[in-house]
Amino acid sequence: MQIKIAPSILSADFSAMGEAIKKIELCGADLIHCDVMDGTFVEPITFGGQMIKNIRKLTKLPLDAHLMIEHPKTQVKFFAAAGADIITVHYKACKKISDTYLEETLALIKSYGVKCGAVVNPDVPVENIFPVFPLCDIVLLMSVYPGYGGQKFIPGALDKIKKAREYAVNIGRPELDIEIDGGVTMQNAAQIREAGANVLVAGSAVFGAEDMAEAIAALRR
Ligand code: DX5
Ligand code: ZN
Repeated sequence: MQIKIAPSILSADFSAMGEAIKKIELCGADLIHCDVMDGTFVEPITFGGQMIKNIRKLTKLPLDAHLMIEHPKTQVKFFAAAGADIITVHYKACKKISDTYLEETLALIKSYGVKCGAVVNPDVPVENIFPVFPLCDIVLLMSVYPGYGGQKFIPGALDKIKKAREYAVNIGRPELDIEIDGGVTMQNAAQIREAGANVLVAGSAVFGAEDMAEAIAALRR
């Protein structure tokens, strides 16, 4: 499977975002991972659709909007209009509202022609989102508790990746994108890829590197 590296702009300098976007594109990024936080689902607040809209003009790379927000269904229209190519929503935020909210939100994302995905936190079994795998273009497994960049990878995520890949194969979707987010480094990238993840989010490992192109290449190989 093609390995895709998705630098997370959470680790970029927000006052120089345009430069950061151009730089990661030049350095070989496959996607741009945009961490949207609302101060409620997770403590910090980052940015909303306006940031996606502005970034959209600067790059041809797909924009991967990771919505760490409550009531994601009410926000989908803004991120779709802003030009997101992928929108992922958290199982926990949806489950809180109703048993069908996750499915409804994924269907709404698709109705805009945008790729959709479900996200599970480290303490949620991946099995909980198996029922929506057929609806998902991508599945995002958190390997840290969301909210902050620069945290340590939680090793239990490796087993979840394996289960997710196995299940995707079983339902006839062997090529399903399985994305891992949090604490990805040059040291653990090989294990993560071997477990079956093919989309690797990396914030500090890319933006903290002296040579971003080399960091992206190292995460990929
Ligand atoms: C955490 C975010 C991640 C974060 C990853 O809540 O969802 O995307 O930016 O950062 P690193 O790679 O530094 O763990
Ligand atoms: Zn993220």
